[in-house]
Amino acid sequence: MEIKAWGGRFEEETDKFFEEFSESISFDYKLAPYEIKASLVYAKALKQAEILTLEEYEKICQGLKEIEREILEGSFKFDKVYEDVHMNIERALFDKIGEIAYKLHTGRSRNEQVVTDLRLYLVDETFELKNLLLELMQKIILKAEENLEVVIPGFTHLQHAQPVLYSHWLLAYYEMFSLHFQRLLDYEKRLKICPLGSSALAGCGFPLNREEISQALGFLTPSRNSVFAISSRDFILELTFILTLIMLDISRMGEEIVIWMSPEFRFIELPDRFCTGSSIMPQKKNPDSAELLRGKCATVIGNLVQLLTLIKNLPLSYNRDLQEDKPPLFQALDTTQKSLKMLSLLVQGLKLNKERLKEILKEGHLLATELADYLVTKGVPFRKAHHICGQIVLYAEKLKKRLFELSLDEFKNFSPLIEEDVYQWLTLEHALQRREILGGTGLNSVKGEIKRAKEEVKRWKNQLS
Ligand code: ARG
Repeated sequence: MEIKAWGGRFEEETDKFFEEFSESISFDYKLAPYEIKASLVYAKALKQAEILTLEEYEKICQGLKEIEREILEGSFKFDKVYEDVHMNIERALFDKIGEIAYKLHTGRSRNEQVVTDLRLYLVDETFELKNLLLELMQKIILKAEENLEVVIPGFTHLQHAQPVLYSHWLLAYYEMFSLHFQRLLDYEKRLKICPLGSSALAGCGFPLNREEISQALGFLTPSRNSVFAISSRDFILELTFILTLIMLDISRMGEEIVIWMSPEFRFIELPDRFCTGSSIMPQKKNPDSAELLRGKCATVIGNLVQLLTLIKNLPLSYNRDLQEDKPPLFQALDTTQKSLKMLSLLVQGLKLNKERLKEILKEGHLLATELADYLVTKGVPFRKAHHICGQIVLYAEKLKKRLFELSLDEFKNFSPLIEEDVYQWLTLEHALQRREILGGTGLNSVKGEIKRAKEEVKRWKNQLS
């Protein structure tokens, strides 16, 4: 009969089906390096509290390091019989150094181990996410620079609205990802709280130096309440929410890539290497990479909802339900990291169809607002100017003319205030020049933002390295 860590109180063996049902090693093995790290620090704290002798401490460290090596090499055998990562490692330590291994568990509980490991794991994952975000932000800046002066029709309601620089449109995404980066920086303050020393729920019964444990593990502070430390999964929910926000923006960008590559738009072209063909229609070139970005967003939204639902109604402190937090968390992280990488490749590879853009700018009366603003400069109240321009647009549409193709006499039929200088207002260049405002699409304004974005990325890159 296999002796369970908690077997003393039990009169029969665990049911085989239940054993399989309740194991978590098939997914929490990912936490093994962090379990070792935390155990080494815990052992030291036990030695300092004179619970372990120097000799015992050294044996434990040596055993843990051997296990660590085996894990890194891939030779460590995780076994479902030992339920989870904590018990697997404890068992391996016992096999190596005998009963001393069991002393490591003095005053310690898996309830605190699992949150400590998870927090440590997420510190590393957050670092990886920040790097991936910076890489994407860099690719966005480069693409904006490469196409600095290309004008596109800006959309609202997916209808032609006003002309904007493509670089300006693209930098909108820069802003979004920059804020996600900043969200992660802020999140780290709440992530880096050390639960170790909280034991099962009540706080450790032995005099451990929690400040030192926290520092040795790279946390910012020890937790201030043992029940909180064991119960809270906010650090998982908050990160998954940030991942969801990241995926929403990735998905929106994926959607735009799909639309802009369609034959109706033809604004952009993706390289063949990121597209697929059809098994039946030989002419097809499909933007599957961008479509998958949209699709994968659904996975992460699902992961967030799953986690929120898991925590709702859970009484404090530890409940076994909490074991189910890991699969959705791991999936959300993996999906988001891969999607960030994929989007970086797409942004780097996409090409603008400049000829087509020039053509399309002729459609949709993108300069109608300019005409209204022109009338405002002649003293017409904006609402009135708007109405007059609406009538002019209707008139031009009927004649299939663009606004600048109307004669001065035709303009004057709608407002006697319109003069020859109106034609200067009816160019793309003029519309852009009028928007040299902070946050506007004027060329100099956009150049300034590119410069600022570059400095921002450089500063953050330095912080990470
Ligand atoms: N595998 C468990 C989890 O992921 C570890 C904690 C187990 N604690 C317990 N009291 N059974 O939550």
